[in-house]
Amino acid sequence: MDSIPEIERCKTGIDILDNRILKGGLPRGSVTLVSGSSGVGKTTMCSQFLFNGAKKYDENGLLFTLTESVSQLKKYMGQFKFYDEKLVEKGKVQILDMRAIYRQLGMNSDKDTPKDTNAILRIINSIIGEYNIRRIIVDSVSAMAFRLVDKNQVRDLIFRFEGIIVDRDCTCLLTSEEASGTRNYSEFNVEFICDGIFFLRERELGNTLTRTLQVIKMRGTDHLRNEHELRIDSSGITLTERTF
Ligand SMILES: Nc1ncnc2c1ncn2[C@@H]1O[C@H](COP(=O)(O)OP(=O)(O)OP(=O)(O)O)[C@@H](O)[C@H]1O
Ligand SMILES: [Mg+2]
Repeated sequence: MDSIPEIERCKTGIDILDNRILKGGLPRGSVTLVSGSSGVGKTTMCSQFLFNGAKKYDENGLLFTLTESVSQLKKYMGQFKFYDEKLVEKGKVQILDMRAIYRQLGMNSDKDTPKDTNAILRIINSIIGEYNIRRIIVDSVSAMAFRLVDKNQVRDLIFRFEGIIVDRDCTCLLTSEEASGTRNYSEFNVEFICDGIFFLRERELGNTLTRTLQVIKMRGTDHLRNEHELRIDSSGITLTERTF
């Protein structure tokens, strides 16, 4: 009998996450929701994934920011060792403000219509092709969704976005605020159409807050399901095994 072929992986460059938790890295072509409360490290983790991709694995990356301006994001991420302005200058890491794209499309109203959604997806698709993008971040899907009039459109947008990611063989992280007071990982239940979920949270241990990461699901691979401690320092995010 033929052996089952191994799926292709996309390494985040974060050691314990790739080698222990995900047993080799994210499945290539997957869309993962990075869910967690404010300040828990979502943008840092996604930026690290993007810069590691360009630097260590020669994979171009694209980050759509909706929650922070490009200059703010560069200023904050520029504090970390993984950040490399040269990669940005060379176009190997592109950081784009979604609001600028809305303006370019002449979408000045607060709310998008389905016609606008088609235009957004067309632009995303053309940027991926033009710059040979392999890794994509949307930070955040909650902010993107906020502009849509009908919340069913959010799922439709993510579903069609995922189609582009699969067609283009990109690997994608979407950040989302967890829906407070519910057992949902995102406000619009987009977790059901994502392949994976990283759940980041803060635990009160003694008199300090400790960040943790837990992989809730990852279609196509075995993975650990326990919480790992997540630390942020000048190197960015590091994970350690710890019993909670
Ligand atoms: N150089 C650094 N060293 C240690 N910790 C840092 C450093 N820079 C930022 N942090 C920590 O990272 C946090 C911000 O992380 P990040 O912006 O990735 O969170 P987030 O989940 O994206 O937040 P939000 O939901 O507000 O967008 C800060 O609140 C701070 O605690
Ligand atoms: Mg953020």
